[in-house]
Amino acid sequence: MCGIFGYIGPRTNGLELVVDGLKKLEYRGYDSWGVAADRGGELFVEKHVGKISGIDTKIFKNTSASLVIGHTRWATHGGVTDINAHPHFSGDKTVAVVQNGIIENYKEIRDELGREYFISQTDTEVIPQLIARYRKTMNFQEAVLAALRRLKGRYAIVAINVGTHQLIAARCGCPLIVGIGQDEHFVASDIPAFLEYTQEVMYLDDNEMVIIDGEASDERPLDQARGRRVTSSKRRETSRPSSGQARDEKEKFVTDHSSLHFLNIETSQPIQKRLVNIDWKAESAEKGEYDHYMLKEIMEQKATILRAIDQSDEDILKIAQTIRESRGCFFSGCGTAGKVCMAGEYFFSIIAQRHVNYAPASEFPVYHHFLRPESLLVVISQSGETADVLEAMEAAKKKKARVLSIVNVAGSTIARQSDTSLLINAGPEKAVASTKAATSQMTLLLLIAYAMTERLQEGRRLLAEVASKINDMLNPRFLVYIKEIAQLIREHNNLYIIGKAENYPMALESAIKIQEVSYIHAEGFAAGELKHGPIALVSHGTPCIAFVANDEVREDVLSNTMELKARGAYIIGVSPERHDVFDEWIHVPDVGVASPLVNIIPIQLLAYYLSVLRGLDPDMPRNLAKSVTVK
Ligand code: M6R
Repeated sequence: MCGIFGYIGPRTNGLELVVDGLKKLEYRGYDSWGVAADRGGELFVEKHVGKISGIDTKIFKNTSASLVIGHTRWATHGGVTDINAHPHFSGDKTVAVVQNGIIENYKEIRDELGREYFISQTDTEVIPQLIARYRKTMNFQEAVLAALRRLKGRYAIVAINVGTHQLIAARCGCPLIVGIGQDEHFVASDIPAFLEYTQEVMYLDDNEMVIIDGEASDERPLDQARGRRVTSSKRRETSRPSSGQARDEKEKFVTDHSSLHFLNIETSQPIQKRLVNIDWKAESAEKGEYDHYMLKEIMEQKATILRAIDQSDEDILKIAQTIRESRGCFFSGCGTAGKVCMAGEYFFSIIAQRHVNYAPASEFPVYHHFLRPESLLVVISQSGETADVLEAMEAAKKKKARVLSIVNVAGSTIARQSDTSLLINAGPEKAVASTKAATSQMTLLLLIAYAMTERLQEGRRLLAEVASKINDMLNPRFLVYIKEIAQLIREHNNLYIIGKAENYPMALESAIKIQEVSYIHAEGFAAGELKHGPIALVSHGTPCIAFVANDEVREDVLSNTMELKARGAYIIGVSPERHDVFDEWIHVPDVGVASPLVNIIPIQLLAYYLSVLRGLDPDMPRNLAKSVTVK
């Protein structure tokens, strides 16, 4: 979490550029924002509580700067205050730093440096203070290296030094990407921050840093046509074969780049980096006609399922074969992606009669006793950056197990660090609540399950039919009906959801959706578990959602729904058929084993409308961030 962005180059509107870029990273955290810049050898800092999306970039129109860093924060250490907002700086105001992650040993360093020098409660402030201390006897690069070697934790930082007009970025567990422009450089937690300026990137890997030298003054001639100052840089490239992981990236191997120096933090050895061309379109992440990204992304499910199955037979069959050959196959992910993994467990059992084990990624490392070189870990992640998932992968790799990932973001850390990676092709998902990514992930698991039993084409046909039925389902009348149900239950404080078999994970996923955007206490249960305790929570009028699919467990779920009704619950049934026990009936198409894909969609909409009707922001709910890069 937290978005960081740095710019160094000839443009003099660096502050505006960085603020604009930070707006594209806001999904990573939105408690506060801040920028720092080298203004003619003096440090300029501006930071505030609140969302950066509300800031008019023009406030920096008359403040010229060509070395700038910025940050959008998801608070970990220290409350949400202006002082705790990043960037943090050294006492002498020569060094400023932005950080994403956690510095675990910050207390020890703060005690050593002297608490009286600190003005914030953050872990990050130790970094500029430490650099400044080493700076007394070292140059900037050596001082940053010395400081980094003292830090423990998972983090990424960007630091600037106003004296030497340099920018240094380092990665130890959190993502950082260098954008290579014409005579200018960008460093960000994610590519959209600078995508409008360059599509050429270099990925920093763990334990690596990059030193980017700038011109010490802004007195260079201005290229009038481009509004930029003129500098020179050179680089030599040779073509290299693609890694085959992110299919829309072309790679070149960079042997020299005059103002960029990559080093290994532990050994100080120079590193050669690959130059990767990102073939993304910047425009595809706009809200368009919709009030919120969440609604837009729910509606996009008319198309995203078809995009998910647009994979070559060869790739899917190869993955099915890898799973078949594994001895001990684990599915793992966090939050919604975790619930998708759980659904996958049922799909594999029902369709392929193959046992796979689900474990939430944050729990996975404790399974290490069961891992061997023949084991396979299948991780699922929209962002491809989730720290708990990366840790699960590390646990698997330690035991030499193979890792297969299913991600949405090409070039993400999880994609790059797995043995094989499959893209769901859902397009950018900006709302914190995962919607279209979840259905695309389930689509791929279903497809692979069919491929496991030589029925890939049958799976493709089923999923194409699901896509077409979702297209029919998401019509204006359907949306109005779901909004009416939201209106009926919006004042309730508690809501329960039940499902069985492959719809049990959907009950859990429904709860996440409703909790995170409407702040209503929602809980999902395996339908048969209610009578063992939770039914005591139900009283007259308590809204309860029941997933009643046309499958072998239908009668069981109906009985459990009746038990709820007998205690006064208000029953919202999600089913292809109307049943007497329902007070409200949300009609979904009958798509057999793929029922979780159609069942979850009305609940995504319900969560959205509950949020809006309760006056909340569904895209940026409190306390959350889209990309969870801390443990
Ligand atoms: O990017 P990931 O798919 O790895 O993210 C995992 C979870 O943080 C995520 O699904 C989260 O639970 C969503 N906000 C739920 O809507």
